[in-house]
Amino acid sequence: MDFSQAFEGREEAVIELFTATFTASGGAEEGRLIGDLVRHQLTGTAAPDLQVFLAESGGTIIAGAISTRLTYDRDDRAVFVLGPVAVATERQGEGIGRALLTHALKALRHAGVDIAVTYGDPAYYSRVGFQPISEAFAPAPFRLQHPEGWLGQSLTEAEMTPLRGSPRCVEAFDDPVFW
Ligand SMILES: CC(C)(COP(=O)(O)OP(=O)(O)OC[C@H]1O[C@@H](n2cnc3c(N)ncnc32)[C@H](O)[C@@H]1OP(=O)(O)O)[C@@H](O)C(=O)NCCC(=O)NCCS
Repeated sequence: MDFSQAFEGREEAVIELFTATFTASGGAEEGRLIGDLVRHQLTGTAAPDLQVFLAESGGTIIAGAISTRLTYDRDDRAVFVLGPVAVATERQGEGIGRALLTHALKALRHAGVDIAVTYGDPAYYSRVGFQPISEAFAPAPFRLQHPEGWLGQSLTEAEMTPLRGSPRCVEAFDDPVFW
């Protein structure tokens, strides 16, 4: 398995991976919603605000993790949201998700990102260093439907301290349905 960030020219394959994976796990509507989200992320996000991590095997994309910037207007630390994440249904449970997330977090750190946040299952994401954070500690772009899924971690030596100001996500996430 190889890691790559080369998604340009392969957007349709990445979107198809997310659509198929989330259709299998959550049904057709969820598959469409996440497929459209990923399309919007890949085609509508300025390059400095987007990081795409892929895992490939024999030239086929088997997993992906998308990360986009979250800006706080009174805080100059670089914050990225990690998500969505998908491992091809037939390759789940082999440790690929964990390996890809570990790789993505390391790459974000090398790219100068100070803090990673995500919104998902704490039991899964705690395996790669995420811890629960409150909306007071790190305001979310919209009122969270599942505040227990709001998670963060420092990617530097510095302890994670509260994020200041109003958050602004990339346009693809600017919809309460995702929060
Ligand atoms: C969630 C997902 C990314 C995990 O990838 P994966 O490659 O299957 O996961 P790994 O093999 O690295 O880890 C598997 C371990 O995590 C556990 N696990 C998987 N999903 C979990 C979840 N939602 N909550 C808690 N544990 C979970 C498995 O039980 C397994 O545990 P074990 O190692 O003790 O046997 C993948 O299953 C997937 O794409 N699911 C559908 C889409 C999705 O839900 N994405 C995440 C939300 S954005």
